[in-house]
Amino acid sequence: MNIDELKSVARAIVAKQKGILAADESNPTIKKRFDSIKLESTEENRRRYRELLFTTDGIERYISGVILFDETLRQSSRDGTPFAKLLAGRGIIPGIKVDKGAKTLALYPADKVTEGLDGLRGRLAEYKQLGAKFAKWRAVIQIDEHDVPAAYALRANAHALARYAALCQEADIVPIVEPEVLMDGIHGIDRCEAVTSQMLGNLFTELNAHRVVFEGILLKPNMVIAGMKCTTQASVQQIAEGSIRCLSRYVPAAVPGIVFLSGGQSPEDATNHLNAMNAMGPHPWELSFSYGRALQAPVLAAWEGRENNITAAQRAFFKRCRLNSLAREGKYNRGMEAD
Ligand code: 13P
Repeated sequence: MNIDELKSVARAIVAKQKGILAADESNPTIKKRFDSIKLESTEENRRRYRELLFTTDGIERYISGVILFDETLRQSSRDGTPFAKLLAGRGIIPGIKVDKGAKTLALYPADKVTEGLDGLRGRLAEYKQLGAKFAKWRAVIQIDEHDVPAAYALRANAHALARYAALCQEADIVPIVEPEVLMDGIHGIDRCEAVTSQMLGNLFTELNAHRVVFEGILLKPNMVIAGMKCTTQASVQQIAEGSIRCLSRYVPAAVPGIVFLSGGQSPEDATNHLNAMNAMGPHPWELSFSYGRALQAPVLAAWEGRENNITAAQRAFFKRCRLNSLAREGKYNRGMEAD
């Protein structure tokens, strides 16, 4: 394990004004996204779409890293340049999703555990060869009534995340550790804070037990937020304060950065919430973004799969990158959406 390399990659990913584009949708997930614009999810359409994102002019000012899916890491741009090389050439660090998805936890029908540890050491060695310098593993925690999630499901997911993180660090790949408490459901913000706290508590205990070096990881959590179907939605300030309170209690200062997922928030809300948290700073860790939908939803809507719309789609992407970069510094306001 090369600790200096791990630390320097982790710090570069959360460099000031920069964040991550999560473009690692698995094939079933990207199919859902393409369905929304009535585009067939063929390998070539997926390649064209990722090329549109990765070749957008000027995004390297705001985007430090891109998370890729296995298929995308093996694809190339129209002119034959492998995507990992294209990104690295622009100063953007390529990363790779390595988990194999969340499956029902045996004997806990309402809970999930993420799979993908078997053979991971070998896959990480290959991904490193292909140019990946960081990785992602996502645990999925669903909140429901009647003791869901079960305490044991949180422990099982924390254990898997820690085993993944240790394997990454052994291979000199920075692990992004993602325990996502879903915002689906009717629960209020307090329940989200309680479950997020419990999950983070378990997670850092397991990471420590697995000898994971905190300076060489990034945490990708949900924000503390009410369920999408909750009748009482929290204010921007409540979300920012709840998230910071929870993270301050459970995330060691040695962790260089926290890169939030957007989780189904609108692009504007995700930017606004990140901005409010940074405006409350300074914090012990960099607070940045690793957004999928919140960066891409307007891009897909503008593109619709058409060559003629590529310029408009890239403009939409650049705008979201720029606004989230401002939110990294607490300098965003909603009025900027009209620019
Ligand atoms: P969203 O920002 O769309 O939640 O995606 C981020 C991600 O990578 C989830 O694993």
